[in-house]
Amino acid sequence: MDSLGRGLRVGSLAVQGLAPEVEPAGPLTVSPEFATAYDQDLDDIAPVRYGRWGHRSAEQLEECLGRLDRGSSVVFNSGMAAVSSVLLALVRPGERLVLFEGGTYYETRQIAEQLAGRGVAVRVIASMAELPEAVVGARLVVVESPSNPLLDLYDLRAVARIAHDAGAIVAVDNSVASPLGQCPLELDADLVMSSDAKVIGGHNDLVLGHVSTRDDQLLKTLQDWRYLHGSIPSAFTCWLALRSIGTLELRVERQNASAAALVKLLASRPEVTGLRWPGAPADPQHPIAAAQMRLGGGLLTFCLPDRAYLHRFLRSCRLIVPATSYGGLQSTANDIGAWPHLNVPGGLVRISCGCEDTTDLVDDVRQALDLAALSLTAGLP
Ligand SMILES: Cc1ncc(COP(=O)(O)O)c(C=O)c1O
Repeated sequence: MDSLGRGLRVGSLAVQGLAPEVEPAGPLTVSPEFATAYDQDLDDIAPVRYGRWGHRSAEQLEECLGRLDRGSSVVFNSGMAAVSSVLLALVRPGERLVLFEGGTYYETRQIAEQLAGRGVAVRVIASMAELPEAVVGARLVVVESPSNPLLDLYDLRAVARIAHDAGAIVAVDNSVASPLGQCPLELDADLVMSSDAKVIGGHNDLVLGHVSTRDDQLLKTLQDWRYLHGSIPSAFTCWLALRSIGTLELRVERQNASAAALVKLLASRPEVTGLRWPGAPADPQHPIAAAQMRLGGGLLTFCLPDRAYLHRFLRSCRLIVPATSYGGLQSTANDIGAWPHLNVPGGLVRISCGCEDTTDLVDDVRQALDLAALSLTAGLP
C-alpha cells in the first residue's frame, strides 16, 4: 500500500483516482494519453516504450484499482481477458484447477473446459464440503462470490484457508460485489478478478477487466502475459473507467439502497418466490454476507410463476430495461431462464438496480407486478 492510500476508505480512494497528486496550479483531472509510439532515448537511459506494452492511462487506472482492492493491479481489455489470463498463465498441463459448479461464470467454465483438453486436471465441485479433498495437489481454486446470476455466496476466508493448507492459491471473481462490496485480498485470497464493464465502469458503456494481487511474482507473471498476448485496454477506455470510478461509492450506495427497498416490496408479494439478495437478513446465506461483505449490492434475483408471467412483468416496467450485463446507471433485468446452460425455473429474473430514484424504482416494480397479475386474471397473454 502506498502512502497516498493509507488510512483512506474506498469511497475517498475512488474519488482520488482521477488525480491522486495535484500539482500546484495543475489540473484536478488527468487526461487520456493517446500514443502508440514514443521517442526512443538513444542514450538507453529511459526505457523503450510501445502502446501494447503499457501506457500511462493504463498505469493510472491500475494505481487506482490497486488501491481500491488493497493490492496491485493489472488491467485487461475485458473481464474474460482478465479471467483467462489468470487461468492460462498460472495453471500448466498436469496441474489441477478447482472450480465451484454454482460459483463460476459460465464462460470461465468454458475456458476451464479448453484447459482440460490441454492436459489440465479440472475438478468442478458442487459445494464447500468437497473442497478439502478436491484441492489436494491443486494449483488454483477459482470462486465467484456472490455468483452471477444466482447470487450464491461462498465463505472466502474458509476457501483460502483450505486451499492454502493444501498449497494452492485462490482467485476470487469479484465482479458482482466490486471493491465497494467486498475486498477478497483482505479475506486472504491471492488474486481478485473483475469484469469492470459492470459495477466499476458503471455506465453500460465500456468493456474492461482487471486482476489485483499482493504477490509480486503473480503480478509479474500477469503483466508479462498481457505484454505478450496484447490484451491491454485502450487509453480512452482506461480514462473513461477512471472517470467513472470517481462516483463508484455514490452509485453503489444508491443501487444498494434501491435493492433493499425492492426486497422489502418483493418479500410482501405472494407471486414472488426464491428471493435472493445478500444484504437481506432473511437471505439463506446472509451470515456469510455479514461476515465478509460491506454491502449487499445492487443485484437481486427472484422467481415469478413462469416465463410468460415474467415477460408480462418486464414489458410493464417503465424504468427497468431487459438487458444482459449489470451494475450500470440504468436498472436492467435479465431473464435467467433464457440462459441455455442453466437449469432454473422459467420465471427467474435477475434485477440490477441502477441509480434512478429509489421511490420511483419501487413504484415502477409495484405497478409492473400489478399489471402482470391483472393481465393474468384478464386472460391476456
Ligand atoms: C462474474 C463475471 N465474471 C466475468 C465476466 C466476464 O466479463 P466481460 O464480459 O467483461 O468479459 C462477467 C460478465 O458478465 C461476469 O459477470
